[in-house]
Amino acid sequence: MRLVKLDHCQSGIKLGRSIYSEKGKILLTKGTELTDSFIKRLKNLNIYTVYIEDKASEGIDIVESIPIELLNEATNVIKEGIETIAELNGTKPTFKAMIETEKTVRTFQKIFRDIMTCLTENPSVLNLLATTKIHESHVYTHSLNVTIYSCQLAIKNGMSTKEIEEIGLGALLHDLGKIFVAPEILNKPGRLNGEEYQQMKAHSQLGFDILRKVHEIPLVVAHCALQHHERIDGRGYPRGIKGDKIHPYAKILSVADVFDAVTSHRVYRPAMLPHQGMELLFSGSGTQFDTKQLKLFKNCIAIYPQGLTVKLNDGRLGIVTKYHFHSVGRPTIRIIKDEAGQSITPYEVDLSERGNLTLEIVEADALL
Ligand SMILES: [Fe+2]
Repeated sequence: MRLVKLDHCQSGIKLGRSIYSEKGKILLTKGTELTDSFIKRLKNLNIYTVYIEDKASEGIDIVESIPIELLNEATNVIKEGIETIAELNGTKPTFKAMIETEKTVRTFQKIFRDIMTCLTENPSVLNLLATTKIHESHVYTHSLNVTIYSCQLAIKNGMSTKEIEEIGLGALLHDLGKIFVAPEILNKPGRLNGEEYQQMKAHSQLGFDILRKVHEIPLVVAHCALQHHERIDGRGYPRGIKGDKIHPYAKILSVADVFDAVTSHRVYRPAMLPHQGMELLFSGSGTQFDTKQLKLFKNCIAIYPQGLTVKLNDGRLGIVTKYHFHSVGRPTIRIIKDEAGQSITPYEVDLSERGNLTLEIVEADALL
């Protein structure tokens, strides 16, 4: 199977993977033949790319980093948990509210441990594109993705279990304050005006103010909410702190946060592919983001995920079949068109092999 832009899909194309609702219900089953009306409906639901099954991509299986059941359970837990904790805003917590919060923190920890087990038992580079889900409210899915990326990055940093768990909780709750930002602002197609931007920016302080009062939550977790928009050069918010004044957890979170934001579809812009998201992060290396964290992150992510169509510097076109841990940017490719753009009998080229060093991926897209 391979990844294609929905814009390039015609009726009759077979779905390679099922498409899920935010709550985890199957909307379209793997193997369904797309019709014009399905394609139109998916576009209206903000689906941008889908996996399809065709002759050229036969036998290419996409590896899921985290099973769909766990992703679904986690999204529901995050939604309920964030709403429970947000209810504490501005009120003196009742005994009942305190019990509820304690329960929430425990469920978060359980979900978080399940994710950790998954990441450590199946060490592979992350490919969150592998699951196509409709997102009605992107705060929860975003929080989950940021948690997965941050944990992987924390593991690569060699952090202790305690530290990884704190980062995990910080990532799950980093955007808590967004529940108080008007949905019209959160989902506004187009640029925010000055006043709207101020309201949006307030979410980090709002989240901090709630979390720091919750007894069961370590203070450093509240600081993850407060500092995840701070930048190395001091041009971030809310305080504009610089370099090592920014907590190491927040440096990890900011990388995970921006990567997920730009590689997810939003009403105001289409999603970038992972290699484009990574390029964007690297353009802010040392100014916006910590360079060491970026280098580590590059090894956490399937920059060219399986099923992606790529073009080599000699003009050949192929589909990514396999990635390699030792060289995530140089996968194995099934060549399907020659230098002249003619379809050929497919064969594989492994870019990670020394003999192929002059070959480079010059273009990658969901369909070229
Ligand atoms: Fe945020």
